Amino acid sequence: MLKKDIKDILKEYALRFNQEIARYFTFPQGDERRVSEAMHYSLTRGGKRLRPFLVYETAGLFGVSFENSLNTAMALEMLHTYSLIHDDLPAMDNDDLRRGFPTCHKQFDEATAIIAGDGLLTYAFEIMSRPSTVSNCQIRCRLIEMLANAAGAFNGMVAGQMLDLIGSAYSIRKDDQEDLIKRIEEMKTGRLLRYAVEAGAVLGGANEEELKALINYSRRIGIAFQIADDILDVTGDERTVGKTLHKDENQNKMTFVSLYGLDTSRQIAVDLIQAAQADITMFGPRAQNLKDLASYIINRNH
Ligand code: IPE
Ligand code: IPE
Ligand code: MG
Ligand code: MG
Ligand code: MG
Repeated sequence: MLKKDIKDILKEYALRFNQEIARYFTFPQGDERRVSEAMHYSLTRGGKRLRPFLVYETAGLFGVSFENSLNTAMALEMLHTYSLIHDDLPAMDNDDLRRGFPTCHKQFDEATAIIAGDGLLTYAFEIMSRPSTVSNCQIRCRLIEMLANAAGAFNGMVAGQMLDLIGSAYSIRKDDQEDLIKRIEEMKTGRLLRYAVEAGAVLGGANEEELKALINYSRRIGIAFQIADDILDVTGDERTVGKTLHKDENQNKMTFVSLYGLDTSRQIAVDLIQAAQADITMFGPRAQNLKDLASYIINRNH
């Protein structure tokens, strides 16, 4: 039988995932409904669903079903979507286009976009705390703490966003720049991708050795993913990418591309992906989708 392309496997997963979103929304009757609509709008306008897929695939290595990884996958995608809504706000990257559609603050208004982000962030934790996420309380608490840490202000996504915003304001030595860029990319993007894999492993009851291998894999794909995003910002096609391009240069962002140029950045990403694939050889053919996904991350066009 012909092997299915990872792009199609991801698309199939995304379709299945998207069908479940409605179950997570009840719209209030009053005027407060507007914020639920804004949350739902941003969640359902495109999106590759890469993080949910990583949760599913990693948990699947240990025999966990789609249903039993769904709450964690959904919560993570909600949290990711909140980070995008806020990232696009005028005070941050000031973007009008996201996933091929008007950004939340363009479609609604700025204040609604801010609270829609707040709503998605809060709801993510409500979902995680439901017994249906995983019946074992200790595992559930561990997953919740890990998510808060990955998304948070100390060395998580929020910390990365802070550095991203002030990074370009400093002129610093090249060596220091490399360290700073690595920290930015690892935190603002890497931590949520790492959470996807780590949460899948915890849901599946991975042992120490398995967990370590998967964390190594996820850290490398996390950085490679952001390098690919930075490359797409320069070389992509706007209609395919679904975002306004050349933002990083126009906003003086510090990225691998701004430091090393396109070719070296691409090579760094390729090396990271090869190493990531080697990290998970212990899982054999069961991890083929995770290996293929790693390649897709740097070869994608959106
Ligand atoms: C975009 O993430 C933001 C970054 C962290 C670089 P994705 O490229 O996964 O965005 P969607 O979810 O598919 O829209
Ligand atoms: C976004 O990085 C990271 C987060 C949203 C946490 P970017 O600002 O590069 O993402 P895009 O290019 O707008 O998707
Ligand atoms: Mg940004
Ligand atoms: Mg941005
Ligand atoms: Mg970008």
